[in-house]
Amino acid sequence: MTRTQLELEMLGGPSETRLRRRRPGADDLPWGTIDLAAFSPLALHEARAVWTNGVFTEYASAAAFAAMAGAFLECQAPVDLSAAAADIVVDEIDHATVAARLVMELGGAAEFRADFALVSPATTPGASPLVRAAELALKTSCVGEALSISALSRSLASADHPLVRAVLDRLLRDEGAHSRIGSWFFAWADDRLTPDDRRHLADVALAAIAVYQPLWRDRCEACEAPAALGGTPVQSHAALIVDAVRTRVAAPLERLGIVIDRARLDALLA
Ligand SMILES: [Fe+2]
Ligand SMILES: [Fe+2]
Repeated sequence: MTRTQLELEMLGGPSETRLRRRRPGADDLPWGTIDLAAFSPLALHEARAVWTNGVFTEYASAAAFAAMAGAFLECQAPVDLSAAAADIVVDEIDHATVAARLVMELGGAAEFRADFALVSPATTPGASPLVRAAELALKTSCVGEALSISALSRSLASADHPLVRAVLDRLLRDEGAHSRIGSWFFAWADDRLTPDDRRHLADVALAAIAVYQPLWRDRCEACEAPAALGGTPVQSHAALIVDAVRTRVAAPLERLGIVIDRARLDALLA
């Protein structure tokens, strides 16, 4: 495993022009308006850590949707669905670049090392193309994006700096579709999935939810970034995420025929 520091590099030229044309407006955000002297060094440190982590999650989302787009094509899902997944990759890269620019405004990236060879989500070895696509739709959209809407909305509700609000707004604007593409896929795949597939997918969903457990358990209470800069209070945030798992993840999945075992979910959320 080789961990390297998170860094976003822009090539510039035609590829950057293309990205800016596809996702205009990033330059119009109120950059250069954060008065760093108004915050303590510790508060700024935490804010940089929160937003550096944010850059990584956006980057990882781009990789996840890229894998999803490929998997949709491999299982011959409707092509407009594959196009939507591929287009979301560009949304996520735009989000990563905007979050990275905010990190620079806060004084630069915190240390963040990851093994980027593992950035794409894993799927069950030997799974059929359809089940592989379903696993990716489930983990990335039905679980990850659904929870990220709750977290981002919460940050936006308490952030009062115009630049931080503008960045959160730009990120949130796209998340509705990101969290729904999974259900669009399952609407199409509904009569192609067997009862065994559904039981397997319910286990995959529970494992995907478990990845987020640090958000409601064992969070460092001393590591609170200022709300003005996008931080969220540790305790109430935990309660919010637990509620989101039940109402925005488990309940919608049940309506799609993927029923997570209630006792195991309760144990995970305890
Ligand atoms: Fe995003
Ligand atoms: Fe997203």
